[in-house]
Amino acid sequence: MQNDQKQSADKPADKKVFIKTWGCQMNVYDSTRMSDALEADGYAPTDTMEDADLVLLNTCHIREKAAEKVYSNLGRIRKLKDERAETDRPLTIGVTGCVAQAEGQEIIRREKAVDLVVGPQTYHRLPEIVARSKSGPQVDTEYAVEDKFEHLAKPQKRQVQARGVTAFLTVQEGCDKFCTFCVVPYTRGAEVSRPLAQILDEARSLIDAGVREITLLGQNVNAWHGEDEAGRELGLGHLLHRLAALPGIARLRYVTSHPRDMADDLIEAHRDLDCLMPYLHLPVQAGSDSILKAMNRGHTGADYLSLIERVREARNDIAISGDMIVGFPGETDEDFEATMEIVRRTNYAACYSFKYSMRPGTPGAEMDNQVNEAVKTERLARLQALLNEQQQAFNQGCVGKTIDVLIEKPGRGEDQWIGRSPWLQSVVVPRTLGAIGDIVSVDVTAAHTNSLMGAGAQLAPSASQKLETATL
Ligand code: SAH
Ligand code: SF4
Ligand code: F3S
Repeated sequence: MQNDQKQSADKPADKKVFIKTWGCQMNVYDSTRMSDALEADGYAPTDTMEDADLVLLNTCHIREKAAEKVYSNLGRIRKLKDERAETDRPLTIGVTGCVAQAEGQEIIRREKAVDLVVGPQTYHRLPEIVARSKSGPQVDTEYAVEDKFEHLAKPQKRQVQARGVTAFLTVQEGCDKFCTFCVVPYTRGAEVSRPLAQILDEARSLIDAGVREITLLGQNVNAWHGEDEAGRELGLGHLLHRLAALPGIARLRYVTSHPRDMADDLIEAHRDLDCLMPYLHLPVQAGSDSILKAMNRGHTGADYLSLIERVREARNDIAISGDMIVGFPGETDEDFEATMEIVRRTNYAACYSFKYSMRPGTPGAEMDNQVNEAVKTERLARLQALLNEQQQAFNQGCVGKTIDVLIEKPGRGEDQWIGRSPWLQSVVVPRTLGAIGDIVSVDVTAAHTNSLMGAGAQLAPSASQKLETATL
């Protein structure tokens, strides 16, 4: 089937597309695939909106704030569109991603400047939808029967190279878990795994273009399942073994996992595969069993802690990260203390934390015991103080060690690179150590909240330089 995939750049680029991306790593990946698909149709990517013929907002619906940002952005883009209306370069505006899926037609009703709305499962149709939008607004939010990955333009080597030595690769999409706070099962649809051959093929072309580290993506990536060439059932652990065997791969990661799908073979892969990085993003969301039940997580706090223990037994230097929600409906002070306790016992290297946000259409939004905003704010502050302490302690624990760093991109100073540690920390290293794509041995001399310093590297004058340690 792979022969059916279109090759890129079959039309000369005479127009430009600007894509703004919110949300999770999968949205980042989707934006690259949309960009490649549009480039094959004559739209070169640009990173300035004013320079574009087509502006796409690839949106996130997870919390209210994320969704509202779309409309404030659209207001500003409408002005640009108005200015351009009388010129020979009219502007086309599209909304893609999870807000597109959730709100569909409503987006065009609220903001008339929008020309097209395309959901996460139909973006392979973007080139034709953009063309059709010249004659009127287009909405495509169905769950396509065809596999979008089979229809998307295959990225060219130079496109992959331009994105650097680390890459995302979606292996699973959608969610059947229906946590009562979450919109993802509605915006991304049912759990679907990409077939093994398709994944191996994409991984090979990434490696061939110089990618050293691949992060496998899925809303529930550890629910990935497939079949090998002999028709045997495989899980994510086996997939990681197959990818680890590809010549040229240096590092593998995967995100996001659900505690219920942490199979034995996946835990064993952390013990057996050197190229599988010692990092596990395993959200628990809350510590109290009654809240976990109300959230429909399908596990208790004790289940989670024993899972963490087993993972640490398999790989003792593994860093654990997670996500936490405070102020889920019905959360009492005592429930919140259980969240603090599970955080203390897990001891996270990094953890995202959010105030519960009521999402339309989810069971949580119908619950009548909503927690008031001031209480949520206070709980979040306490939780984040603890999580910051843990993150600082984890980073500080690296000082004095010699660690492997994958050199990724230029740093602030002309003599600096920024690299990635096995535990996803940014590491500032002197350029004399190597080149982009090298994995070098680095003596860690200092730790900051968001980064480590390698021997010989100086922190830039503004010590607060923000280095992203992870996305989402
Ligand atoms: N599939 C992943 C998470 C996807 S959403 C998982 O199962 O863990 C990313 C994170 O956003 C979630 O882990 C959760 O912590 C947070 N989140 C999701 N819905 C939310 C809501 N309604 N309010 C606040 N945070 C939310
Ligand atoms: Fe959302 Fe839960 Fe599915 Fe994660 S497992 S995407 S939190 S419904
Ligand atoms: Fe947001 Fe959709 Fe990802 S809601 S977190 S962009 S799956």
